[in-house]
Amino acid sequence: MKPPAADGTAKVRRALCPGSFDPVTNGHIDIIGRTASLYDEVVVAVFVNQSKSGLFSVDERREMLLEVTSAYPNVTIDTFEGLVVDYCRAHDIPVIVKGLRAVSDFDYELQMAQMNRGLAGVDTLFMPTNPEYSFLASSLVKEIAKWSGDVSSLVPPNVLKMLKERNSATS
Ligand code: PNS
Repeated sequence: MKPPAADGTAKVRRALCPGSFDPVTNGHIDIIGRTASLYDEVVVAVFVNQSKSGLFSVDERREMLLEVTSAYPNVTIDTFEGLVVDYCRAHDIPVIVKGLRAVSDFDYELQMAQMNRGLAGVDTLFMPTNPEYSFLASSLVKEIAKWSGDVSSLVPPNVLKMLKERNSATS
């Protein structure tokens, strides 16, 4: 049951899953799905990084995310530019959920979490990834797909199709 807020009303529990999602992988979907089962509303937000061009445009990443999260009625997809804490403040989101694959993720994630908490009081919760995906990263998927390696077990079918199309267009 939802805990009552100080004024006695039930408060909507909202969480943010931010990332580059270039492209979304099965590891991301695992974290998004598990977060959706813990919170009333989950916003998956694609970070627009002007200084880094990805394989996919922000709109393409958003479209792929929309399709793969369609089974979760409490998940919405958005994009943001700027600080993640400003996005949280503007949308009244008190918590960021991040997947942790291995100890190697921890140092940087902890640093960001502490910075975000210091900047705006936004907390970060770390969710251990399913061990099945502990080695999985969008960057590796892109590299393997570029050389026509098999990534069909690592990404959902719509992403696989997009990767094949993108790589056949550029080769
Ligand atoms: O999928 P990624 O690339 O690991 O995601 C990293 C992301 C986008 C979540 C992180 O870089 C971020 O939050 N960027 C937004 C800019 C920001 O707030 N930077 C300060 C963090 S302390």
